[in-house]
Amino acid sequence: MSNQNRGLFSSKFGIIVATVGSAVGLGNIWRFPYVAGENGGGAFLIVYLFFVLAIGIPVLFAELIIGRSAHSNAVGSFKKLAPKTSWHLVGAMGVLASFMILSYYLVIAGWTLEYLYQSIADNLAGKNTAELKGMFDSFVASPSRTLMWFFVFMLMNVVIISAGVEKGIERFSKFLMPLLVLLLVVIGIRSVTLEGGQKGLEFLFKPDFSKVTIDVVLEALGQAFFSLSIGMGAIITYGSYIRKKDNLGATSFTVAIADTLIAILAGVAIFPAVFAFGIDPAEGTNLIFTTVPNVFQRMTGGYIFSIFFFLLIAVAALTSTLSLFEVITSYLIEEFKIKRKLASIVTAVSIGITGSIATLSSNHIFNLKIFKLSIFDFLDYATANIMLPLGGLLIVIFVGWVFKKKKVLKEIRHSKHYKARYLPAIMFIIKFIAPVAIAIIFINKIL
Ligand code: TRP
Repeated sequence: MSNQNRGLFSSKFGIIVATVGSAVGLGNIWRFPYVAGENGGGAFLIVYLFFVLAIGIPVLFAELIIGRSAHSNAVGSFKKLAPKTSWHLVGAMGVLASFMILSYYLVIAGWTLEYLYQSIADNLAGKNTAELKGMFDSFVASPSRTLMWFFVFMLMNVVIISAGVEKGIERFSKFLMPLLVLLLVVIGIRSVTLEGGQKGLEFLFKPDFSKVTIDVVLEALGQAFFSLSIGMGAIITYGSYIRKKDNLGATSFTVAIADTLIAILAGVAIFPAVFAFGIDPAEGTNLIFTTVPNVFQRMTGGYIFSIFFFLLIAVAALTSTLSLFEVITSYLIEEFKIKRKLASIVTAVSIGITGSIATLSSNHIFNLKIFKLSIFDFLDYATANIMLPLGGLLIVIFVGWVFKKKKVLKEIRHSKHYKARYLPAIMFIIKFIAPVAIAIIFINKIL
């Protein structure tokens, strides 16, 4: 397939909104607050920020370089750049990780639609904490409702993905991302002006380093990979749609900074409210579904804020699922030479099957466990804390040691005015710092 036919983002703004759209998702608004809550708040935040800078930006950059040099999907890119080697297995692990993530991510994305619906129908109002918990439990125990929303979310993906890169992903992201930022700012302002919210900000920003253990470090690393959408080829795939004249260094920085700011903004929106109403910040995966409605229905304007909030998460989740979906779809289009529409349907059907199995088996009726974790927690842990950092490790090794500086330089200097003075520094991190740091964390965790 020629490069012209496979699609390109048509503008700088399009690249940024699509890539930030991939990065900003449930990871920022659902996962970040609860993982930070369980791992000590402020101390976790500092370790996390360090990983975004020292590992996240270099991996983002490395993935963009791979994707745009090869102009191909996650597997095809490695095949093109390192033919007759096993490097394409890194891409294959990425396709597998996409499957695993989507199998639970789409389900949770579906929950946000249920809560959006319940907010609009005003069914959350007047319920106390226990009642709200009961409502959540009976909802997730209902196979028909959870599966219905899962498939609705899937359908939205199919519609947008089959419309293509520019007319689908880029067009929708341009509209959805500004909406998301607006909603988040409104909710953030409301939350910090709540009485008693101060403690929440202290929890988020005051570090207590005695809380930092190897598990906290691994969680922070996994959260950085998950939140930035790196380590499995989503950014390789999006990079392959970036025009040669666009600046990859600036894109990596912008995406990392925007994603981090939005995670912090989500923390600022959620923790003050959690503390103001005396809720446990270590509530876990249910944090936003059981505590946030609790918060909203106790405050003035709660009806409208609740609608805003769940709309916000649904939007954030949608632009993220698009990037995961596109990893599989572009792989099918290019490696099996099938049409985009068919490829997106095949993707949907296969995830429909794995996602349904995951949903049904994590349900209260039939509670399957792997390594003492529920299926969802297992899929989340295995991908975020193991597969993504491992993928990231191999990606920086590939760009640093196989691809080498000369080719990297050529790839980023298509346009003469990108001097890329940051290159020696970032290449040093890619070659030495990032791989060593990831390896040390893995080794420490195993020992
Ligand atoms: N980053 C997204 C979030 O924070 C999720 C996501 C999209 C993702 N694409 C990914 C995670 C690729 C890992 C890899 O919600």
